[in-house]
Amino acid sequence: MNDLIPLVKTSEVSEGQPVPVSVEGLPALAVYRLGNEFYVTDNLCTHGNAMLTDGFQEGAIIECPFHGGAFDIRSGEAVQFPCQVPLKTYPVVIQDGYVCIRRP
Ligand code: FES
Repeated sequence: MNDLIPLVKTSEVSEGQPVPVSVEGLPALAVYRLGNEFYVTDNLCTHGNAMLTDGFQEGAIIECPFHGGAFDIRSGEAVQFPCQVPLKTYPVVIQDGYVCIRRP
């Protein structure tokens, strides 16, 4: 049984331009590129009602568009005030040119 959920083609994700993805039954997701690596996190900031894909990716850091808080996309760690609660991250599998996560 294939428990992978394809989110977006790798070719459609550029560094610095995270892509919002909706999957039925899951929270809104954000897909990021960092070099040749891909990362997936929840898209909703843990501080408020902001989508991180509307924010600013600088290397491994995504800055929220609302209050300047930020997270490390690799670990979900909150790295800048006022964000304190870590962001949920999802292990990524690349299959057939797609960024995939495992069905929780
Ligand atoms: Fe993201 Fe406040 S909503 S820092």
